[in-house]
Amino acid sequence: MEKLPKIEDPSLLYGYDTLGDAGVYAISDDLALVQTVDLLTPIADDPYTFGQIAAANSLSDLYAMGAKPISALNVIGFPVGKLDLAVLNRILEGGMDKTKEAGAVILGGHTIKDEEIKYGLAATGIIKRGEIITSSGAKPKDRLIITKPLGTGVISTALKAGIASKGAIEKINHYMIQLNNVASEVMKKVGVDAATDITGFGLLGHLLQMVQASGVGAEVYGEKVPIIEEAFGLAEKKLFPGGSKDNFNYVRPHTSFASGIGPELQVLLCDAQTSGGLLIAVSFEKTEKLLRLLQEKGVEKACVIGKIIERRRLQVI
Ligand code: CO
Ligand code: CO
Repeated sequence: MEKLPKIEDPSLLYGYDTLGDAGVYAISDDLALVQTVDLLTPIADDPYTFGQIAAANSLSDLYAMGAKPISALNVIGFPVGKLDLAVLNRILEGGMDKTKEAGAVILGGHTIKDEEIKYGLAATGIIKRGEIITSSGAKPKDRLIITKPLGTGVISTALKAGIASKGAIEKINHYMIQLNNVASEVMKKVGVDAATDITGFGLLGHLLQMVQASGVGAEVYGEKVPIIEEAFGLAEKKLFPGGSKDNFNYVRPHTSFASGIGPELQVLLCDAQTSGGLLIAVSFEKTEKLLRLLQEKGVEKACVIGKIIERRRLQVI
């Protein structure tokens, strides 16, 4: 989008030129709309589960900014005539139930004929203008918190190859269908400096974007990052999706890995996630309160995984 002409509009508060996956548009002196769109190819065997995951994934960018979802439109690609429409119905039911759980309403949608199934939402949220959380406010000494474990990329690749264990599949589905609503409410209540959601660029890719936008760097405690156990064995078999390897190559020139951080962990930290958790930068003083509230409200994997530093580099120690 860098080559497109710039848009000048006083109501455009955030997005577009910052290449974010959501934009913010003021609709009054105190309120703004947050809009985002995302779609996925099937990542679960069961269509209802896939619908839930795709909807949670699409709504995630609203939660990362602190917005409350209000409405959504289905965006669908489907091999009409080749696949039973009952499959599509189950996907849409999953998406609708997840959207309802988020407190939002599906207003309609659009389907195109496609070789492969694709599903997601174009979603709209609402936020007070003074409460918008972006990825560009991280400050030195802030603590970094993530709210879901990593590993969905490598495990879903193993699922497609037919070698993921039932337990591993259940775990990734559990996390991928989980909305980031609770994490979002808690971070708004406590007040944080920056946040983003962890999706296709993996933890280190999204962290790199956050520190570059904030003009800082970060130290990551490699061994403290929560990772779904089964991911390690699959990482040894190099079952990463292509995106995870691209992410690794993208962050590598900006990142130093301590000698104890093995090659599998290095790539796992870049593993492309679907419907991942939030990555939050919060002041040292507020860290304990944020963690306590997250855990009390059921975001049980939330933990500190590093801190913001002045030096503009990622250091995994
Ligand atoms: Co997105
Ligand atoms: Co995002």
